[in-house]
Amino acid sequence: MTFEEKLAETIALLHKIAGEFSPAVFANSFGAEDMVITDLIAKSQANIDIFSLDTGRLPAQTYALMQKSAEQYPSQPIKVFFPQTAATENFVNQHGINAFYESVELRKACCQIRKIEPLKRALAGKKAWVTGLRREQSPTRTDLGNQEYDSGNGLEKFNPLIEWTEKEVWAYLRDNNIPYNALHDQHYPSIGCEPCTRAISIGEDVRAGRWWWEDPANKECGLHVKK
Ligand code: ADX
Ligand code: SF4
Repeated sequence: MTFEEKLAETIALLHKIAGEFSPAVFANSFGAEDMVITDLIAKSQANIDIFSLDTGRLPAQTYALMQKSAEQYPSQPIKVFFPQTAATENFVNQHGINAFYESVELRKACCQIRKIEPLKRALAGKKAWVTGLRREQSPTRTDLGNQEYDSGNGLEKFNPLIEWTEKEVWAYLRDNNIPYNALHDQHYPSIGCEPCTRAISIGEDVRAGRWWWEDPANKECGLHVKK
């Protein structure tokens, strides 16, 4: 399949989602893949609302890109969801501000409060959600398709870039002059919260910089875990 064909299929899928699964939403973390999808939704005018989960611990570069995206895509507002104040305060006051380094349990508890609970609110009442997952990204993502039922969240889930290669993502961003996270130029292929993301070295896996102190086989924050 040529890249043009792949691109046409991706746009067709976005239209199908908007047409058959309304209301549908796109989860935007402002990573490279998500900027491609943001641009495709804006240009194709597919009726898919965009949201982002602001954990309160994102890198400054991600906030800068949020602002830039708002300026570049004024017709495509991005709704932001924050963690619940009381749960966040209780967790931090009980376990400390950087508890995620202490154990997998505390790390997952932090992700639960800062991402999973807000995600539940973002998906409430929706028929489908769209993500920027790609098969190449991780051993936990090799058997994903572009459409699957997300039983944990009770709605359809679409991964329109599932077959895209990293090279294709970057060619699309560059050819279309799309803004991207400045950390990508500092050897951060995958970006999450600032304290849980580091740069990778040559030859390392693209997600090696995420929760780098944990076992690679179960490094998912729970946003994409199958129940
Ligand atoms: S994660 O599960 O490890 O955090 P990753 O960073 O690879 O996920 O992102 C995969 C997809 O999950 C993104 O393309 C996006 O659709 C969604 N996602 C991840 N983090 C967020 C976020 N903070 N806000 C909205 N969507 C997100
Ligand atoms: Fe907390 Fe780190 Fe998860 Fe962000 S990635 S929610 S800081 S544990």
